[in-house]
Amino acid sequence: MPLKSVRGQMLSFKDDPFLKPASECYDHYQDGLIVIRDGKIIDAGDYSIVAPRYPQLNDIDTYSDALIMPGLIDCHTHYVQSPMLGSFGDTLLNWLNRYTYPTESMFRDKGVADEVARMFFRQLLEHGTTTANVFATTFETSVEAFFEESERYNTRMISGKVLQDRNLPDSLKDESTEGSILLSERLLNKWHRRGRQLYAIIPRFAPTSTPEQLRLAGELYRSNMDKGVYVHTHLDEAQSEIDWVRQLYPSHPNYTEVYGHFGLLGRRSIMAHCCIVQEDEWETLHRCGCGVAHCPSSNLFLGDGEFKYWEAKEKSRPIRFGIGTDVGAGTNFSVPRQLSEAYKVAMLHSHNLDALRSFYLATRGGAETLCLGDTIGSLAPGYEADIAVIDLKPSEYAEWRMRFSDDIFEKLFVIMTLGLDNINLATYVAGRKVYDRMRDRKFMYA
Ligand code: GUN
Ligand code: ZN
Repeated sequence: MPLKSVRGQMLSFKDDPFLKPASECYDHYQDGLIVIRDGKIIDAGDYSIVAPRYPQLNDIDTYSDALIMPGLIDCHTHYVQSPMLGSFGDTLLNWLNRYTYPTESMFRDKGVADEVARMFFRQLLEHGTTTANVFATTFETSVEAFFEESERYNTRMISGKVLQDRNLPDSLKDESTEGSILLSERLLNKWHRRGRQLYAIIPRFAPTSTPEQLRLAGELYRSNMDKGVYVHTHLDEAQSEIDWVRQLYPSHPNYTEVYGHFGLLGRRSIMAHCCIVQEDEWETLHRCGCGVAHCPSSNLFLGDGEFKYWEAKEKSRPIRFGIGTDVGAGTNFSVPRQLSEAYKVAMLHSHNLDALRSFYLATRGGAETLCLGDTIGSLAPGYEADIAVIDLKPSEYAEWRMRFSDDIFEKLFVIMTLGLDNINLATYVAGRKVYDRMRDRKFMYA
């Protein structure tokens, strides 16, 4: 197998800066080198140390004024909502009825699903995102289109059919509860661990599933747990949603326990939002080892509430969390732009999030959240070679502004705060360059 390599300033995380001293958590090289064979990193570190080990190395992509990082990780999003991003003026439950359900109803048509999947992947790769945890919708077509496109790029993605058998329009509702589980099982058997694809069992949220559907989803999870299958859902996003759950499930002590009762909480259970969480719910999430996706642009857009990372990272019962764009309530596809919103959300509560912690969340922290911390999210031997190349001079102003900052984390904080849309120069998936901003034909596929 021929060797491939990427050279330039490089940053990668090796531990959690919410729990450990910052200096123990990252590696930064002014002139770094990553050596790749067969889609995996076989060596990474300082160029002057790594390069002499590979005298035969001749395929080297070199970047200056840039920062080579692990591919970014989006812990919660909906590809099927790509056509409705920026839909005006409503709170969660109205927004779902007015915009979301009609949009998702279109995905019964495979042609629609294919077109949207193509656009979604281009958006992710353009923004340096190489792994995402993604809702499809009710229909088999929506799952097939997603995984087919992911397989074409060879991206490591998590997705699955959405389970929803009540409280939504007939055009989107599962026709039968048992049928919805059988279809999930069929798609799981087809796609889970086919190449880099991973399957999630996805009850949309407790209000749109009957207790019977949640029970059967829990059974399906339990019987596939040892294969590394996921559960993905929404939790504690907005007060109106929480009140509705209390009405629908009056015998359960809280929203989290509804999922717990049906066996849906485990290490690969990923909960989106968690804005309004009681202490006993954090304790349950910690005990079960669930991951959480912080989706700040979405929470601000819908006026839901705010994820409180300092609650999540309470030292006695820390929770793994990463960043979610939550398109289409989220307002863009960019993980770094979520970081700038996360900073502001924290500041509203007299906390902050520096660039070190922020970019940890966008890379290794996301991977840990998704239980993929030994597979993706770091630039180190044995990891899959998913890479983003961040432009440190993405605009005339940014280039000028950088003259006043030396430290790499100061520069990254400027980059995330400016919120520019073109900060990613190139994206590599399993060692192959799939996006290059400097080329006329930017994407590997049309
Ligand atoms: N809760 C249930 N469904 C959704 C959705 O599609 N988006 C968001 N933000 N919250 C939800
Ligand atoms: Zn969502």
